[in-house]
Amino acid sequence: MADEIEEIKRRINIVDLISSYLTLKKAGSNYKALCPFHQEKTPSFMVSSEKQIFKCFGCGKSGSIFDFLMEMENLEFPEALRILAERAGVQLKTFERKEYKIEKDQKTKVYEINRLSARFFHKILIGKPKAEFVRDYLAQRKISDKSIKEFMLGFAPDSYDLLSNFLVSRGYGKLDIHQSGFSIASEKKEGEYYDRFRDRLMFPISDALGNIVGFSGRAMHKTEAGKYINSPDTPIFLKSRVLYGLDKAKQVIKEKKRVIVVEGQMDVISVHQAGFLNVVASSGTALTKAHLEILGRFTKNLSFCFDQDEAGEEATKRAIDLAHQEGFDVKIILLPSGNDPDDCLRENRVLWEECLKEQKGAIDYYFENIFAKKKGPLEAADKREIAKELLATIKNLSDKIAQSHYIKKLAEKLETPERFLYEALDKIDKKQSERNQAPALPAKSMIENFEDRLIGLILSKPEFQADFFKRVDLENLENPRNKEIAEKLKIYYNKVAVFNLNSFKKKFPDIAMQIDLLVLQYEKITDQELLKAEYEEYVRRITTSKTEKIKKLYEEKIKEAEKSEDKDRVKKLIKDFQKAIIGK
Ligand code: CTP
Ligand code: MN
Repeated sequence: MADEIEEIKRRINIVDLISSYLTLKKAGSNYKALCPFHQEKTPSFMVSSEKQIFKCFGCGKSGSIFDFLMEMENLEFPEALRILAERAGVQLKTFERKEYKIEKDQKTKVYEINRLSARFFHKILIGKPKAEFVRDYLAQRKISDKSIKEFMLGFAPDSYDLLSNFLVSRGYGKLDIHQSGFSIASEKKEGEYYDRFRDRLMFPISDALGNIVGFSGRAMHKTEAGKYINSPDTPIFLKSRVLYGLDKAKQVIKEKKRVIVVEGQMDVISVHQAGFLNVVASSGTALTKAHLEILGRFTKNLSFCFDQDEAGEEATKRAIDLAHQEGFDVKIILLPSGNDPDDCLRENRVLWEECLKEQKGAIDYYFENIFAKKKGPLEAADKREIAKELLATIKNLSDKIAQSHYIKKLAEKLETPERFLYEALDKIDKKQSERNQAPALPAKSMIENFEDRLIGLILSKPEFQADFFKRVDLENLENPRNKEIAEKLKIYYNKVAVFNLNSFKKKFPDIAMQIDLLVLQYEKITDQELLKAEYEEYVRRITTSKTEKIKKLYEEKIKEAEKSEDKDRVKKLIKDFQKAIIGK
């Protein structure tokens, strides 16, 4: 093993590896960059080509290629070893052994299953007669064979067990397959699963290094399940952090010093195919702060090209504001309405190129939009409204020079002294301008979010468990999965003296993946004071939100009883209500 590690270190230059994540600048015989592991404004992250190590003089993180990858991708050593061995072309004897296979850690398995599935779907798409209609479909959409190969597109046939059977034949368990996101538990029969992706064109989604971590599948026929479905979050796939196409785009993003962000996978492929390689999409979720942090390692210049329907306009606005807050220079590529980049390119490449040339600064776009809506001479009220809207946007700019540029422009347009606008700008608090924070995870109720945080916290920081079980009634947990985990944890807690996360997971393998996901949130947080404050806040919310709910329920019932003038019932309800609150 030591030999293998040395060989891998010899073959992979740390400068190349780190460059695939961030932009390194030459500084003497070393390289430097903004540290990806902590927030900083001036670079203190150094890479030594001679010693083949990195070190951050700000946060103290340091080490070899292995340490870097483990830190960057949140990996355990065996997984980092496997990925780098593959990249270096070194065969790992250690990994071929049977015993190892049995003990392989869970993330390793999830990576393997994703990779195998991608190949499986791809082979079907390019070779099997039953995929002929899909090949025709792609041809009609002008997706070239080269793109099909490069993006490793695939086809998942309309079957409930084709993929599962294949993976089982390769030695993976039903639970492994489920935990990798490829099967759904049957509601009818305990322990039964069926394939998640059926009759779908499959887009593998890779991380920045090109490892496949999840999928998006486009329906090939009308279905109730939605045009696109995506892998659920797994130990290696977090929608809020993955950008489709980044592995192929990152080099060119650095060279061109700009990234184009589009909405869909098809758009990425079309734009890429047309020769514009610096393009990515967020997959199945609105653009998040985490996405922007990742892009920010490569460039701070970003062009959005989103659909311009009403929903699209809202999404664009939110994304722009978020990007401004993260310090990006943001431009907008406007396409003829109703077109996405893929439509546009298929119909008229020249038009696409023109739109690219005419892209404009995001704030200029806001200016145009808002002034176009107001026709005729501006009344005082119009001016106030326009100022309010635009100042909220300008407030987001972290660059003072840009800010003063737009204040000047606004002052001219509104025929108002700049001074007044600056005063108004000062009064806008940051909160208001954050109206637009794109939600990291859509469609999850607030309560579930902090519930997830709370359960993640007590799993990763067991010192809170005693207090948790004393104060929180598990019945108050809304999300059934959280409740299940908490119940199992309570059993375990009452049995063992010292909590050990791994043995807890081993004891309850069917919730192991969920546990991994929950724990992920706290992996890097160690500030005890902060943790304590967070913990208290969540416990408070869990207990009060329960009270709130009871209150609402009774309020409604009481209102109804009042309406029907049933006084006894009103009295009884009030009593019940008091009991429910006190007795909880
Ligand atoms: N999307 C999703 N779930 C859906 C619909 C869309 O996750 N039910 C995501 C997909 O990543 C998709 C993107 O949103 O690529 C844009 O959706 P849409 O504009 O509907 O699809 P297109 O990319 O235009 O796909 P196509 O051209 O194949 O219709
Ligand atoms: Mn489209």
